[in-house]
Amino acid sequence: MAVAIVQATHGGPEVLKPADVEVGAPAEGEVRVRHTAVGLNFIDCYVRSGLYPLLDPPGTIGMEAAGVVEATGTGVTGFHAGDRVAYVWNEPGAYVAERNVPARWLVKLPAEVGDREAAAMMLKGMTAEYLLHRMTRAGAGDAVLVHAAAGGVGLILTAWAKHKGCTVVGTVSTDAKAELARAHGADHVVVTSRERFPERVMEVTGGEGCVYVYDGIGKDTFEDSLASLKKHGHLVSYGNASGAVPPVNLQVLSPRCAMLSRPSLFQHIATRAELDDVAGNLLDALRRGIVSVDIDQTYPLAEAARAHVDLEARKTTGQTVLLP
Ligand SMILES: NC(=O)c1ccc[n+]([C@@H]2O[C@H](COP(=O)([O-])OP(=O)(O)OC[C@H]3O[C@@H](n4cnc5c(N)ncnc54)[C@H](OP(=O)(O)O)[C@@H]3O)[C@@H](O)[C@H]2O)c1
Repeated sequence: MAVAIVQATHGGPEVLKPADVEVGAPAEGEVRVRHTAVGLNFIDCYVRSGLYPLLDPPGTIGMEAAGVVEATGTGVTGFHAGDRVAYVWNEPGAYVAERNVPARWLVKLPAEVGDREAAAMMLKGMTAEYLLHRMTRAGAGDAVLVHAAAGGVGLILTAWAKHKGCTVVGTVSTDAKAELARAHGADHVVVTSRERFPERVMEVTGGEGCVYVYDGIGKDTFEDSLASLKKHGHLVSYGNASGAVPPVNLQVLSPRCAMLSRPSLFQHIATRAELDDVAGNLLDALRRGIVSVDIDQTYPLAEAARAHVDLEARKTTGQTVLLP
């Protein structure tokens, strides 16, 4: 048996309740992983509430974790009991102390990367990797806008974009978050509780706008994000922290001849080779100090509901892990 967070229905954080679950032996191709840290992600809120239809309750949410290999099923090569591993998997269920995971999703951890660090950064860091290198080709001299720049994805994205020579404009809701975003490389930070960001973007880019806007906020920012683009700019709408963007009339793109995309991490790690490539780049960036992992909050796994309340209330910064 293992302790898990089980929800009987879709709903708010209050549906997340600790319970014992049977884990069983790993099937063919699977590895049994004892979790030492579980990553908290905004996507967990969408799966919990039912906005993303990935879970049919009763069941367990959670897309990423790190831990130690306990046992391997038949046909598994390359992983052995005692190996330290981390994973992102598009099947929810990581909010549990032990889990059987297909070996295809596991990444071995180098000694210098801690378990908590790994659990905190796999999903968010690989997202920053593909946003900057695969969905866009952000490079030296590009002005880019990063929303929620002090958040989990936001801090990594900001630091990496800055390293690539971009001029990074970040949005945050408080002065404390602004300080954090600046410390990670943001050149200009807009505190959205008292300032509108399209005007600031135009001011700091000499009226041109940003080449790329990375928007994980969704409904509340969509229109202003478009208004912050440079001619031929690209709005990457990659999340919905404020709610899903309503259906869009493509005509809204024409004033700037703009591009609009709605990507997903899992499309960028759809094969083992792609996963190795994206994860390898992330681990390399971490090793070289280009990005860092800032675990600003930890919660016991049993208190996952409290972590969700804080995440949705915009109280968290950087990355967060749940500890089984
Ligand atoms: N498509 C993909 O492949 C992919 C992969 C990973 C993550 N994502 C998306 O990336 C975004 C960030 O994820 P994360 O886990 O790193 O979360 P996070 O950024 O740590 O937390 C969300 C942040 O969004 C901002 N926000 C603005 N309006 C909000 C609202 N109405 N409610 C809650 N937060 C609001 C808050 O920052 P301020 O208070 O500073 O505004 C908040 O801290 C999410 O939308 C997530 O779904 C997408």
